[in-house]
Amino acid sequence: MRKNPSVEELLEAYKPDHSLPGALYYDQAAYDFEMEAIWKAEWLFICNECELPEPGDFRTVEIGNNSIIIVRSDENTVKAFYNTCRHRGSRICLEERGSSSRLTCPYHQWTYDLNGKLIFAQQVAEHVDFNQHGLKPVNLTNIAGLIYICLSDAPPDIEKFRASVLPFVTPYEPAKTKVVYESVIIEKANWKLVMENNRECYHCAGSHPELLVSLVESALPDDPKTPGFLQIMEEKIQKWESQGLPHEPVEGGNEFRCIRLPFNPGVMSMTLDGKLGCKKLISNFTDPDRGDIRMFRVPNSWHHFLADHIMHFRILPKGPYETEVRTTWHVHPDALEGWDYDPDRLAEVWLSTNAQDKHLAEQNALGVQSDAYEPGPYSPTGEFMVEHFNTWYMEAMRAMLSATSKRRASGE
Ligand code: FES
Ligand SMILES: [Fe+2]
Repeated sequence: MRKNPSVEELLEAYKPDHSLPGALYYDQAAYDFEMEAIWKAEWLFICNECELPEPGDFRTVEIGNNSIIIVRSDENTVKAFYNTCRHRGSRICLEERGSSSRLTCPYHQWTYDLNGKLIFAQQVAEHVDFNQHGLKPVNLTNIAGLIYICLSDAPPDIEKFRASVLPFVTPYEPAKTKVVYESVIIEKANWKLVMENNRECYHCAGSHPELLVSLVESALPDDPKTPGFLQIMEEKIQKWESQGLPHEPVEGGNEFRCIRLPFNPGVMSMTLDGKLGCKKLISNFTDPDRGDIRMFRVPNSWHHFLADHIMHFRILPKGPYETEVRTTWHVHPDALEGWDYDPDRLAEVWLSTNAQDKHLAEQNALGVQSDAYEPGPYSPTGEFMVEHFNTWYMEAMRAMLSATSKRRASGE
């Protein structure tokens, strides 16, 4: 039976500008290590707060061995707690979504308010200090209505990301939208293959005819990949600057990206015919010619902000070989189905694109398990964002490895 190298050996074997050593895409020990180094350490995108419109509305998400409750409190703020009862540890909310004025554990009915405070526990009220037995909170931050959580007790700084993206996305008022289509798919591929696939459009021409109706393959303002792009960009920059719309790529290093890019000439939205997918525009916009804000943040989300709709993409790992990809399509809350938009038409381009990407990632996942696989070289112009992603990944993994070795050396 094949024995995989250790995580340390795998990290050492990494060659910059190449795909990762194979076992990092399927090894259980590497996956478990990533849970600590990344998934319990980083800020994770969860959802748009418009999905929790009323106090008591909640969602649950699974991050590795933890289930987390995201709930809107009576004070109208969104909070996050571990979905683990302080009595004997049962899960409390058993559904993926719901609404309740209290959070009651199904086992012995210990009950918590929407701030996580224990307010009822039968038979033990004299023995148990209610103040010491509230639900354990999880760090949460809200960036223009986008909810991020972090399971670490010492969350990394997210303020640079916030300051960089707010000028782009605040005018879209993401919190004041409604979900008109939701898709959740499982890709039988390691989460990094799913993200790597998302970080390049080298594969677009071969796989995404629907997406390329609207999307330019050029990834930067001076990227000449799409014929005629530089001229389109110049025209749009003049227009957007006269309207005060930010467009230049932000300084996100390897961690995040935010940029406004135009669509192909004459195209207004990511639809099959390039026409608007929703007649009522987002916020109070009147001119649909705002291009496409492409926003990305490690480790688990990317977004498109268009004049007529917004799309959020969230990935969560479900094991070394499985990744959940959740996509939501948002429009103005007053837009009327059947009049302003048809949800199926709105979603069809990215439903096709997601299905195509799923196929690509799954074939990639099978191929890297072969004895013949060895890390291959990236295209400097077509895959530079994949390289950014891998550089970030290696840094996160190495930082955890060195912290673990130090702890071991000091006998902790
Ligand atoms: S485990 Fe929740 S009330 Fe007992
Ligand atoms: Fe793709």
